[in-house]
Amino acid sequence: MQKGAAVKVILIAIVVAAITTAIAIFLPWLPASDSKEGDRIDVAIWFVTGICILVWAVVAAIFLYSIVAFRARPDDDTDGPPIHGHTGLEITWTAIPFVLVTAIGILSAVILAKNGDTPKNALKVNVLGEQFAWNFTYPTYNNLQSTTLRLPINRTTKLEMTSRDVIHSFYVPQFRQKQDLLPGQTTTINVTPTKLGHYVIQCAELCGLGHAVMLGQVVVMTQASFDKWAHGSSTATQGGGAAAGKALFTNNGCASCHTFAPAGATGKIGPDLDKLPQYAQQAGKPLETFVRESIEDPSAYIQPGYPNVMPPFKNLPAQQIDQLVSFLTKGSS
Ligand code: CUA
Repeated sequence: MQKGAAVKVILIAIVVAAITTAIAIFLPWLPASDSKEGDRIDVAIWFVTGICILVWAVVAAIFLYSIVAFRARPDDDTDGPPIHGHTGLEITWTAIPFVLVTAIGILSAVILAKNGDTPKNALKVNVLGEQFAWNFTYPTYNNLQSTTLRLPINRTTKLEMTSRDVIHSFYVPQFRQKQDLLPGQTTTINVTPTKLGHYVIQCAELCGLGHAVMLGQVVVMTQASFDKWAHGSSTATQGGGAAAGKALFTNNGCASCHTFAPAGATGKIGPDLDKLPQYAQQAGKPLETFVRESIEDPSAYIQPGYPNVMPPFKNLPAQQIDQLVSFLTKGSS
């Protein structure tokens, strides 16, 4: 290659790299990272992006230079000179990717190991995914249940996750991590939020009709207000009556699929529970029997026009099923 050509190629590469770097930095690809684990993942993302920009700039520069400098005249039908092997070139284009990919592998392994390292004072939260809702249980707070994931700021929370039915995936873009929830298995991630605020959990695994609406909420709060909330609400579902029924209805994710006025629920995937008396009549069963059966074994009677996708809830404690049945029958009479 002549010296002039090399200079031109390098100049084109610099321009391409500058444009690509601007695209990487100034387009909003991801929201800012709001967790310690997310910050580490960003280091890996930028390391890989930097390598990509470098390789792309060199390839694009040689390509752009070649289509201008080596283009054929309109009346030129000859072939280019035949070229056989170039050991130096082959070693170079094997060695460079080998070094880059190995570096990416090592950096990623270190970051994954750090993110998986759970500190001793970590808060534990059990996460249950189901079609189509998120449930969170706090074992150290009297098994407090919540449909909102409440996390104290600057403290690591270990999420131990499983699924009631099919595969779901926990993803909060600001926390960067994405982890599947598998029926019959427990998967974990650590989250150490660094900013107060509200975040949305988006299920990131196609899990059925309601996948798109399988959204959850995360609230990052100060340790003081977290303690206040945790101690205050661990008794909420313990009482009786409509309040307990409503809490169960919400905590078990019923609202994401069903409409039910007494619970303020407006889901559209499953049958409208304000019409339960009418459905019971169609099924030819007394209302209470029908409602109980539909919770414990939903496919026993399928309301025409609705899909058979509801998971059975026969593992709920008997007292909770009683409370739910009473809430659903009294609320709709
Ligand atoms: Cu759960 Cu998609």
